[in-house]
Order: sequence, then structure tokens, then C-alpha cells
Amino acid sequence: MTNGKDTLLEVRNLRTWFHTQEGVVRAVDGVSFAIARGEALAVVGESGCGKTVTALSVMNLVPSPPGRIEEGEIVFEGRNLLEMNDREMRQVRGNNIGMIFQDPMTSLNPVFTIGSQIREAIQVHLGLNRREAKRRAVELLEMVEIPQAERRYKMYPHEFSGGMRQRAMIAMALSCEPKLLIADEPSTALDVTIQAQIMELIARLRQEIGLAVMLITHDLGVVAGVAETVLVMYAGKVVEYADIDRVYYNSRHPYAWSLMRSVPRLDEKKDRLLTIGGSPPSLINLPPGCSFSPRCPFAEEICFQEEPPLVEAESGHLSACHFAGDFEKHGQGVKS
Ligand SMILES: Nc1ncnc2c1ncn2[C@@H]1O[C@H](COP(=O)(O)OP(=O)(O)OP(=O)(O)O)[C@@H](O)[C@H]1O
Ligand SMILES: [Mg+2]
Repeated sequence: MTNGKDTLLEVRNLRTWFHTQEGVVRAVDGVSFAIARGEALAVVGESGCGKTVTALSVMNLVPSPPGRIEEGEIVFEGRNLLEMNDREMRQVRGNNIGMIFQDPMTSLNPVFTIGSQIREAIQVHLGLNRREAKRRAVELLEMVEIPQAERRYKMYPHEFSGGMRQRAMIAMALSCEPKLLIADEPSTALDVTIQAQIMELIARLRQEIGLAVMLITHDLGVVAGVAETVLVMYAGKVVEYADIDRVYYNSRHPYAWSLMRSVPRLDEKKDRLLTIGGSPPSLINLPPGCSFSPRCPFAEEICFQEEPPLVEAESGHLSACHFAGDFEKHGQGVKS
């Protein structure tokens, strides 16, 4: 949410579907959001809700077939990326948007040293010669706080710990000096302490180099202190979109509200307070009405019949719930 600030990326009504033998998977279905220069947006939601497909759409890397961007605009620095040819798009990917992929093997090749991979990316994107590119690669490894960067430069991905590998991937994504870093679950596979360190690193990089960040995670607990805005997705759609504090303390959507209540505190070794019963619907056959209604403790009749529009529950706070103003007063409620 850019609130009139200098918009870097604006996604409008994006629909990305997969045409499979089983039917059309509406992975991303009418998603809109914006990121200002230097802003960090967290995209949060359970597995399969369309987070990665949203990011891949921005990068124009949706596997096609079966995937297709059916509708929408992706405007980066005033230009619609969906109207660019392959060469122009490669330039945007190479020089403006860096991405850390969810699958680490997409980013790091096991048969080359970490250093040579980063160096090569730098040579390609920034046009530096081999020596300069190596110096820059070592600097980047230092920037992401890899100790003994000079020595580690010569190591292979399997010689790195999980956390170090993640740092190397961040260095790789930064090699093109991007304005926007898309980080898809950058810390999910890591233990809690390392997770926190990676988040700190991303927060620090934002400050130091004025990077805008799109941080994808299924865990709302890790985004505090890193992102200022949260986009909550459910079944391919945006269900809540607001400043992080408002989503944390005044959620206006039962799904986001439940996610909040299921966040374990990093400083407490407590069990999750609440788990969301049931599982997300198939994106091929969505239930009528609100996609969350079968699992929603507050659902009323209308929720099973009519799809709720995304509306402003309060200024700058979007929610797609029929009872966005006061859902807690409806349905069975939750006792916990
Ligand atoms: N190549 C593909 N072919 C068919 N369906 C796909 C393909 N890639 C993704 N999907 C479907 O699109 C939907 C959204 O997937 P996506 O990977 O964006 O989820 P996600 O929110 O990133 O989940 P996770 O937290 O598990 O990474 C899922 O239903 C998934 O099965
Ligand atoms: Mg994903």
C-alpha cells in the first residue's frame, strides 16, 4: 500500500490460472497490491493459496503451459511488464528485480562454487570484468554476513549450512543491484534462530540499500519488524490488506484473525493457541460464496452464498468479509 508514496510496483487485478487435465486451477484470481520504493510487503497465507504464483507472475516466470496470465497489469516503474518482450523482461529481471526462489536448487547449481555463480551473475548483469566481478561477489558475501567470505567464495553449495546457503542466495539475488527483492519463503526450512537472523539481515539490507521487499511466508510470526504492510491471501485472492499493526491488533478478516491467533511467539515455547480447522479448498472447484466460509467460525448464511467484495473496513485497511466491521459478533465464534 503506497499511500501516495512513490510507487515502485503495482499489480492490478492479476489472474494467473493453470489449465490442467483436471480443470482450471485459479491459482491467482484478481489480486491487486502496490509496493512503494523502499517498502516491505509481506504476502502471507497457507500452502497453496497462490503466493509463489503471484511472485512468478511478477517475474513473468509462470510455467506456460499449463500456466497463463489471463488478466491484469503488472506495472514496474511505470511500465507494464506484461507488455514487454522477452529481452526487455530479462533486463528487468537482471537489473531491477532480484528473486530468492522457494526451491533453493533453482538458484544455486550444486556443481559450481558459490563464488563463481555469484561472480557470473554479476558479470552478466553489471557487465564487469572477471576480476572486478569477483571483488564485488566477495563484497556481497560480506554484506550478507558470511564470515571468511574470501575463503567461502571457493566453496560448493553442499559445503554451506542451510542458513549460509540462504545468505548466499540473497547475495546472488542482490548481484544485479535490484530495486525490489522478492524473497519466497527465505527462512522456512531453517531453525528458529537462523530464521530470525535471515529476517534481521533482510531488514538491515532494506535500510542500508533502500531495497523494496516482497516477503512471502506462510508464517505471520516472522514478518514483524521486517515488513510494514501485509497482504493476506486465501484461495488465490486477497482477503486482508493493511499495515502490519492493524492486521496484528485489529484484523478485519476471520482468516487473518485465525492466522494471527495461531502465531507462536518466538520468545515463548508455547504451543499454538489455535489451529485453523479444515483445509483450503481446491482451486479448481471453489465453494460458492466466500472461499473461507466452510472453515469460518463466524460464517452466516450469506457467507455461503455470496462472494464478499474486498472493501475498506477502515481507511487504508481492506478486507473481503461480509462482516468486515465486526465479524466477531457473528456465527458460533471461537472459544479459546
Ligand atoms: N505448474 C503448475 N501446474 C498446475 N497447478 C499449479 C502449478 N503451479 C502451481 N499450481 C497451483 O497453484 C496454486 C497456488 O500455488 P502456489 O505455489 O502459488 O502456492 P503457495 O501459496 O506458494 O504455497 P506454498 O506455501 O506451499 O509455497 C496451488 O493450488 C498449486 O497447486
Ligand atoms: Mg510457495
